[in-house]
Amino acid sequence: MAMGFKHFIFALLAGLALILAAHAQDQSGFISIACGLPANFTFTETKTGINYTSDATYIDTGISKSISHELGGGHQRYVWNLRSFPQGIRNCYTINLTAGTKYLIRATFLHGNYDGNDDLPQFDLYIGANTWETVKVVNSSVSVIKELIHVPSLNYIHVCLVNSGLGTPFISAIELRPLLKTSYVTKSGSLALYWRVDVGLKANLGYRYGYDVHDRYWAPYNKLGWTDLSTLLSVDDSQSDHEYQPPSVVMRTAATPVNDNDPLEFSWDSEYATSEYYIYMHFAEVVKLQPNQSRSFNITLNGNHWYGPLTPDYLKANTLYSTSAISGSAKYEVSIFKTENSTLPPIINAFEIYSVKYFQKSETNQEDVDAITKMKSTYGIKRNWQGDPCAPKAYSWEGLNCSYDGDTPPRITSLNLSSSGLIGEISADISNLEMLQYLDLSNNNLTGSVPDFLSQLQYLRVLNLERNQLSGPIPAELLARSKNGLLSLSINSTTSSVGDNPNLCGSGSCKKNSFLVPIVASLSGLLILSLIVAAILLGLRRRKQQDKTTVGMVDTRSSIQNITMESIQRQFTYSELLKITNNFERILGKGGFGTVYRGNIDDRQVAVKMLSPSSVQGFQQFQSEVKLLLRVYHRNLTTLVGYCYEGTNMGLIYEYMANGDLKAHLSGEKAFILNWEDRIQIATDAAQGLEYLHNGCKPPIIHRDVKSTNILLTENFHAKLSDFGLSKIFPNDGGSHVSTGVVGTPGYLDPEYYRSNKLTEKSDVYSFGVVLLEIITSRPAIDRSQERTHISQWVSFMLAKGDIKNIVDPRLRGNFNINSAWKAVEIAVACVSPTSAKRPTMSQVVAILNECLPAELARVREVHGGESIDLIEMINMNVTSELGPSAR
Ligand SMILES: *[C@@H]1O[C@H](CO)[C@@H](O)[C@H](O)[C@H]1NC(C)=O
Ligand SMILES: *[C@@H]1O[C@H](CO)[C@@H](O)[C@H](O)[C@H]1NC(C)=O
Ligand SMILES: *[C@@H]1O[C@H](CO)[C@@H](O)[C@H](O)[C@H]1NC(C)=O
Ligand SMILES: *[C@@H]1O[C@H](CO)[C@@H](O)[C@H](O)[C@H]1NC(C)=O
Ligand SMILES: *[C@@H]1O[C@H](CO)[C@@H](O)[C@H](O)[C@H]1NC(C)=O
Ligand SMILES: *[C@@H]1O[C@H](CO)[C@@H](O)[C@H](O)[C@H]1NC(C)=O
Ligand SMILES: *[C@@H]1O[C@H](CO)[C@@H](O)[C@H](O)[C@H]1NC(C)=O
Ligand SMILES: *[C@@H]1O[C@H](CO)[C@@H](O)[C@H](O)[C@H]1NC(C)=O
Ligand SMILES: *[C@@H]1O[C@H](CO)[C@@H](O)[C@H](O)[C@H]1NC(C)=O
Repeated sequence: MAMGFKHFIFALLAGLALILAAHAQDQSGFISIACGLPANFTFTETKTGINYTSDATYIDTGISKSISHELGGGHQRYVWNLRSFPQGIRNCYTINLTAGTKYLIRATFLHGNYDGNDDLPQFDLYIGANTWETVKVVNSSVSVIKELIHVPSLNYIHVCLVNSGLGTPFISAIELRPLLKTSYVTKSGSLALYWRVDVGLKANLGYRYGYDVHDRYWAPYNKLGWTDLSTLLSVDDSQSDHEYQPPSVVMRTAATPVNDNDPLEFSWDSEYATSEYYIYMHFAEVVKLQPNQSRSFNITLNGNHWYGPLTPDYLKANTLYSTSAISGSAKYEVSIFKTENSTLPPIINAFEIYSVKYFQKSETNQEDVDAITKMKSTYGIKRNWQGDPCAPKAYSWEGLNCSYDGDTPPRITSLNLSSSGLIGEISADISNLEMLQYLDLSNNNLTGSVPDFLSQLQYLRVLNLERNQLSGPIPAELLARSKNGLLSLSINSTTSSVGDNPNLCGSGSCKKNSFLVPIVASLSGLLILSLIVAAILLGLRRRKQQDKTTVGMVDTRSSIQNITMESIQRQFTYSELLKITNNFERILGKGGFGTVYRGNIDDRQVAVKMLSPSSVQGFQQFQSEVKLLLRVYHRNLTTLVGYCYEGTNMGLIYEYMANGDLKAHLSGEKAFILNWEDRIQIATDAAQGLEYLHNGCKPPIIHRDVKSTNILLTENFHAKLSDFGLSKIFPNDGGSHVSTGVVGTPGYLDPEYYRSNKLTEKSDVYSFGVVLLEIITSRPAIDRSQERTHISQWVSFMLAKGDIKNIVDPRLRGNFNINSAWKAVEIAVACVSPTSAKRPTMSQVVAILNECLPAELARVREVHGGESIDLIEMINMNVTSELGPSAR
């Protein structure tokens, strides 16, 4: 079969193995952790001389266990104990090491019936944010060993065990061994061990440290039709520049075919269609050849010439290795056969096969990790906070939200430490979480002042300090930002009065109360703002020019329950709106609820939506709804910054979304076409926003008007859902809306809701399904033709014909992963099921969409990786030049 392999780059590396002796060797750089060993305990393994230490300093969860006594004798001491993790989904070891060093990382799992039930689990092993392997234990008396060659980019790694619901994870040992940087080089990715054997070795369990300076395991390997050759001399050299340093003891044995003219062959099956491999073959002549003898052979891979002719050197190791990944075949067959001239059959002494692992998800930004880790120890936070704070997303720390922007490390954007029993002052480490937008420290026992450093958090939008014991003034800048509507500041809850920051300035008793006045006066617009507050308090709709109410005074009116800091600070006057929008100069768009204008508050761009006055309900309801929406905060929902309600002038102020709405990008109005990856990302973003409204809000918010024009895109094409909750403000709106009490947009409207008038979250799921179909097909929800075919009918029709390729937007020209497309179409079709009971929930939709992306990323990588095939050449790093006296 022509696989095109002959073009791959290969290099023959001549080199030398070191003299290996079983006496003490340098273990410098070794990290040898015996899990479950009592704290501070260390011991030296007698067989290998390796010093092991307890894992107690690397992890603070899990429980120590030991394997059953009967098994102890058959295993080395370092696996007698283990750490088991009955609690928590993810448990992580944090291991300090040297960033940029190439390590062999080995994790060992010996169950040993430690639980007395022989309950054999399956679980996932992670390195940082990325899946390394699935560990499946099938025999309690046999160790499962996973090895990885990896260059950590940080000066620590997290090795995490993730419970996948198939039994309690455990681990026996973690070992790290530094390797030479020039060995095991890949084009990209890390290498997971697939196969490493010492050919011709018999009656032995294999070799490792003591024999191998890098502590690789070499397992014995023999095959029918092969016979072994060996030498008692060591395969060595005084020079030590062989990158791979295969141990002498391994190289001393080799195999050769029983029949001189047969090849030596071995093969393996590709684990997945996309798997990529690197091969390393080690050769050394072990027989002193007579002058009339010669041994030379060629090597083929899947029948294609790979390297040769090769004549191994007497008692010197030569390593043949691939310099780029081998892929694209279901099975790989290596064949080594003698050349025409050779009097002797081929030999091989050892080989290694690795599969490539792409660890692409980055770990959280280092400064954020340092800051949050310090806070964890400062406050003694007892949550399951371990491993990387943000990544992977599915296991991010409880109470944290992060931003995930492609390749850049995630940043912490939200920190909820409400009711966490925090004692002491507000930690200065918080100010190092510089991307923080949301900070909730409510309901703790925090004392001291509200520190100035909180104002360094320039992106902070929500700060909740309610129900603490804080005292002193509130930093002026925070107050100013809160009054500009840029920060929602909560210092006093309306419901509870006990222990609610009694000494905080702003309360009636605060001596420094007067300091507020100059600040207020110095900020344009603020005075007017505070007057509005007063107007509301007095039940008036119009401003009173002479009232000089300050915030402090407002709060003393505790009888008026529903006025909180929040509701005051987010309200804008109509004249302010005029200023913000420069007299409504630039129209961004028109929608069912009114016209949207561009504006600026300070340096921040905003979008101001002026609502059509006709249908809005009364001020009270408007205000209470808006207040509710002001509290909704999620990265996939457009943030409501403030509002205005003055007579017939009603406006909502949102963050500005630079790339407009999704519909415009699908309908071909824009010059460039969203690729499949972008589309899946946008769908996932929107689904997450909707999922949050359904499941993250109490009471749940049903959007009621999910459509592609309501999905807005940021500069970086991250999607946010907009206009959520507006249907509550406009219960009977006209415009594009069906005005029979049923709210929605034709084409997106759930037919079941339309018939029954019963609204559930599943109506949003239907609309989302329509949007997803639009994303996939780039067709409008309702065909513009005479038939006015609905997109779901069109897709069903095309599906019946069986070809997915005709469903996906033809402008993509087939540039998408077919599995990813199938998944997306399937979930979309499920969403638009006429019966709501048959539709998935948004959580399920999010889960499926999350699966679509990796498939697509794998495709992109494959296409990209494939380009290298054309750049092939043969490199022969001269075998003999460095070797001194040659065997030939
Ligand atoms: C381990 O050693 C450290 C430092 O010597 C000591 O503080 C700690 O108490 C010891 N832990 C145990 C469990 O013995
Ligand atoms: C291993 O530990 C023993 C006992 O603590 C010590 O004497 C020896 O030097 C250590 N060996 C290495 C290579 O670190
Ligand atoms: C790892 O390094 C960090 C920072 O340098 C240090 O605080 C921590 O104690 C180290 N952990 C171990 C187990 O040595
Ligand atoms: C587990 O492995 C041991 C040692 O290889 C073997 O003797 C035993 O039969 C295996 N047990 C099972 C259940 O396969
Ligand atoms: C090589 O030479 C030896 C004697 O030196 C002889 O016995 C042997 O038959 C020769 N082998 C070949 C293949 O010519
Ligand atoms: C071995 O490879 C060389 C170089 O490609 C080629 O000339 C020779 O014919 C091959 N020998 C065999 C037996 O295939
Ligand atoms: C075979 O041997 C002859 C003479 O020693 C040599 O010239 C030729 O290059 C060899 N061919 C191969 C494929 O090694
Ligand atoms: C604050 O501390 C007091 C006593 O020190 C305790 O009774 C109270 O429960 C604590 N409150 C919170 C919210 O932790
Ligand atoms: C918070 O509420 C309590 C009781 O309602 C009040 O005594 C206190 O002054 C308020 N504090 C602030 C800062 O408004």
